[in-house]
Amino acid sequence: MPETSNDKNVTTKARFLGKQWDVVRKIKAAKALKPDILILSRKEQDLVAKDFRDKGWAARYLWGPLNLMYEKFLLNRLTGVTNIPQVIGLEDYNCLLISRIDGEEIKKHSAPISADYFDKLLQIADKLHARGVLHLDLGHKSNIMVDKNGAPAIIDFNSSLYLPPNAFFRPLIRLLAKVDKYAILRLKIRFRPQDSNPAEKKRIENFLRLRKFWIFDKLLRKLTNFISEY
Ligand SMILES: Nc1ncnc2c1ncn2[C@@H]1O[C@H](COP(=O)(O)OP(=O)(O)O)[C@@H](O)[C@H]1O
Ligand SMILES: [Mg+2]
Repeated sequence: MPETSNDKNVTTKARFLGKQWDVVRKIKAAKALKPDILILSRKEQDLVAKDFRDKGWAARYLWGPLNLMYEKFLLNRLTGVTNIPQVIGLEDYNCLLISRIDGEEIKKHSAPISADYFDKLLQIADKLHARGVLHLDLGHKSNIMVDKNGAPAIIDFNSSLYLPPNAFFRPLIRLLAKVDKYAILRLKIRFRPQDSNPAEKKRIENFLRLRKFWIFDKLLRKLTNFISEY
């Protein structure tokens, strides 16, 4: 664990994987069921630790390990997909190490978003869906990043769903994939309004209207609200 635990841009040292790392940034989660996030750097390598070790016992021993195992399982389904974090390993059963996306969250990105950014983001989403992974939290602007080359990246597979991409589940995957695709199109309207045509806007309005009647959407929202409150 870091020797001190200040937030944001304070370099302290911490031991991970048996080596000393600079803690470039620590995002100390205020919520009981969220991990602390540590951005680590050593020589040419950067890592991210999702760490439940300083949390209360329920998060440390129950929720955290389950949560991280699930995220690890999902990320392993996505090995080789570019601009998705890769699993580096476990520091402990309640501390997961993943590769760092060198960039910033789209909501904090001040430079203009490039014209092909959202097409590339849709291509990444297609790759996730082809492997049976539905992100389902792309509406959250802190889960989509702009890397140092201006390309999109997707993080945070905590609220995601995996369905085996076989003939039986494929129709359901196609249906649920719309949740991700419409979340991306909504972001496109927000960040690149000049590229969004009225037909696209209409499709999103219709989708949102339809979604209100879908019972699973209400349940999913209740569940994610419950999780993010704790
Ligand atoms: N692999 C990563 N590369 C770069 N930054 C990351 C990475 N994973 C997480 N972060 C940073 O930490 C924040 C919180 O991580 P996230 O995985 O979204 O957890 P949660 O939203 O559940 O707290 C992100 O919004 C991002 O700023
Ligand atoms: Mg997140």
